[in-house]
Amino acid sequence: MVCLGNICRSPLAHGILQSKLPENFKVDSAGTAAYHIGNNPDYRSIEVAKSNGIDISMQKARQFAAADFKLFDYIYAMDESNYRNIVALAETSDDIAKVKLFLEENPMVKNKNVPDPYYGDVKDFTTVFDLIDSTASILSKKLIRTHEK
Ligand code: 4NP
Repeated sequence: MVCLGNICRSPLAHGILQSKLPENFKVDSAGTAAYHIGNNPDYRSIEVAKSNGIDISMQKARQFAAADFKLFDYIYAMDESNYRNIVALAETSDDIAKVKLFLEENPMVKNKNVPDPYYGDVKDFTTVFDLIDSTASILSKKLIRTHEK
């Protein structure tokens, strides 16, 4: 799960998707930018997750790296700008094939960018939570169908 700072959107996607999957599915998150490396998620993401029963407070921001293409089977970008930044680090066509927009998994959603809530208010974080939660429900079912036989 990859956004820009790895403190608002992708920590939510990481915590929410992991909560819907068995433990043998390893979900992680990163940011394409280096601004917040080592920081915990934004307090507003921590709060909206907590009020929905998910603890993301222990997460620490890290920067997406080319090595991640080899470590993960699927790489989900929170918006098109992050998508481009991820693909720019790809070394092979197999790397590129792993990258998708997260909201591509949700046919109900027209705009495929998870809005950046960093300069917004609590309501924006709630909107982001709901968007990620509904999409993670669809994606988790698909992953379980694909991988658990
Ligand atoms: P995120 O949000 O990409 O969802 O973690 C942002 C966090 C920090 C900044 C921008 C977006 N920033 O400019 O520092």
